[in-house]
Amino acid sequence: MKVLVVGGGGREHSLAWKLGQSKEVDKLYIAPGNAGTAKCGENVSISADDIEGLVKFGRDKQIALAVIGPEAPLAAGIVDAFEASGIKAFGPSASAAKLESDKAFAKQMMRRCSISTAEGRIFDRYEEAKSYIASRDEAVVVKAAGLAAGKGVFVCDDPADGILAAEKIMCDKLFGEAGDKIIVEDKLLGEEASILAFVDGRNIYVMESSQDHKPIGDGDTGPNTGGMGAYSPAPVVTDEMMEKITGEILVPIVDGMNRLGTPYKGVLYAGLMITAGGPRVLEFNVRFGDPETQPILMRLKSDLAEVCLSVCEGTLSEANLEWDERASVCVVMASGGYPGKYEKGKKITGIEEAERDKDVIVFQAGTTEKEGEILTSGGRVLGVTALGDTISDAKGRAYEAAGKINFEGAYYRNDIADKAIWRGDK
Ligand code: AMP
Ligand code: GLY
Repeated sequence: MKVLVVGGGGREHSLAWKLGQSKEVDKLYIAPGNAGTAKCGENVSISADDIEGLVKFGRDKQIALAVIGPEAPLAAGIVDAFEASGIKAFGPSASAAKLESDKAFAKQMMRRCSISTAEGRIFDRYEEAKSYIASRDEAVVVKAAGLAAGKGVFVCDDPADGILAAEKIMCDKLFGEAGDKIIVEDKLLGEEASILAFVDGRNIYVMESSQDHKPIGDGDTGPNTGGMGAYSPAPVVTDEMMEKITGEILVPIVDGMNRLGTPYKGVLYAGLMITAGGPRVLEFNVRFGDPETQPILMRLKSDLAEVCLSVCEGTLSEANLEWDERASVCVVMASGGYPGKYEKGKKITGIEEAERDKDVIVFQAGTTEKEGEILTSGGRVLGVTALGDTISDAKGRAYEAAGKINFEGAYYRNDIADKAIWRGDK
């Protein structure tokens, strides 16, 4: 069958890499893709947000399955549009995608389904948010309710900073309309984990656990980014914890979406804080995580196209996925200055040398090819991902490979996976 991957980041490179290996897939297109996805299939220069253009392309090329990477087209109804044209699409409908695109909706659903999350209040007027935050004397977390590319959350240890955050979001419109509503919630303490599950409307298949590293600096310092590295499995998620996550979070939210008349289909991503009192939800995302997908898919032995089809067809209960027992670690190499201003167009060298280790793959994110050279074209540029017998082994290999790659201003964290290693590795 012909498959179209929508998106152009590191997540989409790993999706294209894995789908390209499927015996079901004869032809793979990636729109718009990047220099890395061009090695897995054919890049098509249609933007991920051009739903009409993508659906037309899908019809013209007789695409059998579209796999959607990013959240924005999902929230804008790309799956509904593909399905209306008779094309199977992997991802939730626009109404179900509200679990990510409207944090106020997600909070209400969690309350309704008795899912453990931080206590929070929703505001659509700045003055009310301000007086509420001013009345608090402990840390607060202020979140834009809409989509803000992972940057709309401010963790403020001092409520005065919380007021400034609310002002930036609601008055200065830092994230535009995404900040018309905000959530103010309690700060949770613990270690974070990402749990991604395939959901076909009713059935749930939980993937191997992973952990992201959101802040830009070592030791989780500095502003949040889209994610500076990830590893899988995350030892903080023990078997017992995974059972709780499934029974107390995933099953109730999937049931709740059904009761609401908006069944959930695609990948459901629960961003969790593993607290002393158990797992609590920080956020839901309605898609594969970036960069979590890179280490997770390196460990997936089964055919991803078959799983995506079974999600679309509602036959996920028959899926039996096989995973590599080994661990994997992904180190993101970013442009200097990210998540603030950064320059583009820097020549990248050393990717081939880095990939000489057969257990290393350099997933490309913000890259483009020009006259035979690979140039930087985004904030997160590469996700250097390695398998290893233990997490420390995978970490060692990923960093050795990253050390072989150069571009002007390249920046990466040096402590990806250390939290797992401190716990005693696996
Ligand atoms: P979110 O996009 O909602 O996952 O938030 C981004 C990041 O902010 C999370 O990965 C956490 O590091 C942090 N965060 C969000 N909500 C909370 C909370 N209630 N308590 C502590 N940290 C939080
Ligand atoms: N890695 C965080 C995200 O995909 O939202």
